[in-house]
Amino acid sequence: MMLLDSIKEIYISNNKPKTWEHVQEVAETAIWLAERHSLDSEKVKIAALLHDVSAIMSPQEMYDIAISRNMYVDPAEEKYHFLLHQRISRIIAEERFGIIDEDILSAIECHTTLKKNADMYDKAVFISDKISWDQEGHPPYYEELKSLAAESLDEACYFYINYLFKNNMLLMPHLWITEAYDELKRQ
Ligand SMILES: [Fe+2]
Ligand SMILES: [Fe+2]
Repeated sequence: MMLLDSIKEIYISNNKPKTWEHVQEVAETAIWLAERHSLDSEKVKIAALLHDVSAIMSPQEMYDIAISRNMYVDPAEEKYHFLLHQRISRIIAEERFGIIDEDILSAIECHTTLKKNADMYDKAVFISDKISWDQEGHPPYYEELKSLAAESLDEACYFYINYLFKNNMLLMPHLWITEAYDELKRQ
């Protein structure tokens, strides 16, 4: 089966049509950003389509995988297991889909929290996921985030993460987002 077909198949056979719809929207946004910022649109497309593939498991299953593999578990992940989904999606992308491209794997792995030393692929997928909200309507930051993203991925990341911190929107800040925020603030 071709890669794109097998990606679709995993969402559909696990009864996740909504997630499949969401990741396709994220892919569309990511391709738009890739074109604006001279990134490889094939890479951002695959990263976007796989970023939430761990939706095929429960948060408890994700946690069990992290423990059984001796992965570092952040206190925020310890408390909210679903925060592991970005890192578990990376594992599925590698092990079930044979993805080896580090730009793709890294972008999947940090799509919720970003991380320090994030590159443009990480930032493009991170922002695409925030613009393509998986809930009803548009998030309050939508217009501004979208227009910033068209010009600068760094500005967009800073704007979004700053918004989360300023409005106390993080259940419990994950180390990676705190580090990403500190780094973006310094720039
Ligand atoms: Fe996600
Ligand atoms: Fe997502």
